[in-house]
Amino acid sequence: MSAPVRTTNDLRLGLLRQPGTVLFGPGQRHHLARLLPAYGGRALFCTDERMAADPVYRELVAGVEEAGTKVTTYAKVEPDLPRQNLEAVARAHDGDEFDVVVAVGGGSVLDFAKVAAILLAQGGDVAALYGENVVPAAGLPLVTLPTTGGTGAEATCISVVYDDERSMKVGIASAWLEAAATIIDPEFTLTCPPSLTTATAADALTHLVEAFTARAKNPTSADLDAHLYAGKNLLADTWARQGLRLVRDAFPRMAADPADLGARSDTMLAAFSAGLAINTAGTAAAHAIQSPIGALTHSAHGLGVGALLPYVLRFNLPTRIEELAEVADLIGVAPAGGSAEAAAHAAVEGIESLLATIGCPLDLAALGLRPEHVEQVADQAMLATRLTANNPRELERADVVRILERGIAGDRSWWT
Ligand SMILES: [Fe+2]
Repeated sequence: MSAPVRTTNDLRLGLLRQPGTVLFGPGQRHHLARLLPAYGGRALFCTDERMAADPVYRELVAGVEEAGTKVTTYAKVEPDLPRQNLEAVARAHDGDEFDVVVAVGGGSVLDFAKVAAILLAQGGDVAALYGENVVPAAGLPLVTLPTTGGTGAEATCISVVYDDERSMKVGIASAWLEAAATIIDPEFTLTCPPSLTTATAADALTHLVEAFTARAKNPTSADLDAHLYAGKNLLADTWARQGLRLVRDAFPRMAADPADLGARSDTMLAAFSAGLAINTAGTAAAHAIQSPIGALTHSAHGLGVGALLPYVLRFNLPTRIEELAEVADLIGVAPAGGSAEAAAHAAVEGIESLLATIGCPLDLAALGLRPEHVEQVADQAMLATRLTANNPRELERADVVRILERGIAGDRSWWT
């Protein structure tokens, strides 16, 4: 195993990338009708079949149309965003003119709309956009309305697409994917199925922790120009801190009563905060290792990153004592008068407790991962270099194997 390397933000760098307008609050979705005319009179609404049939969605569209915007709905977005969904929307609306794209849904719908807005403005092939900073120019203005609490996709400028020709998920990451506006209405999440509530809340917590404990990269000006992710930085930290403070009480309250709008609201604000944090800090090892696990076991992204987090954090602990000790404070589990190391251990256990509270498994066998999968998952995780390079501790293939073996066994009896 490699020696721990601690990286600090020597530049005192801060970097924030966010939607131009952010409106948050229960019932605020109704403001969409007033927001849209400024973009022009023709909107393409993107959603999935579940939401399109929901009376809440129909009422939203009726209000928008009443205010004078012509709405066309595309409701065929599927989970995990197959590439064909994007090719289909470009074909279906070839030659149609829209002024604005509106996304109402979970992570896949929001990711879909970010790329659809580019394709509808510029045409071309989806695969030609894969990678970091490859999108050549702005697309149509995009308004995001998340319905889960949440992936943070309403705030991020990355889309994750499943390409079946390559049998893998690929990212399209570009500042041109940033939404012009987002309206975050926690009332949407009241009808979320429990499994989706668990998976998206676990994803949000993982985003907060991975951004706050990410490697600080001290990028040069040329690095900042070439890459979207600057690693741990002051402005991402402010949002990560806010999110961690919120989940402390919101998760137990939401688990006790899924109809608690205040808890739903705090969870959604935490998820948005997490989205802003990862939009410049990036995610790290838990996300790198989850992707091949998800492809193999078809387990939800949020459950996968959540179940990996206890093992990844134990591995990262020697490089992030100070940051994890602060996490212990933020989530209210710091032992009185203890050492920073004791506080860091308490933070990891406190995060596990929050994950368990919302129903996220704390081992990888629960996702369907078996010992015979370990070598293949380790190989593929190491290919996600954008994410592994963001991990605070150098991550070698042998480290991933050990994280996976312990994760499958549910062995959390170790530190570092
Ligand atoms: Fe995630």
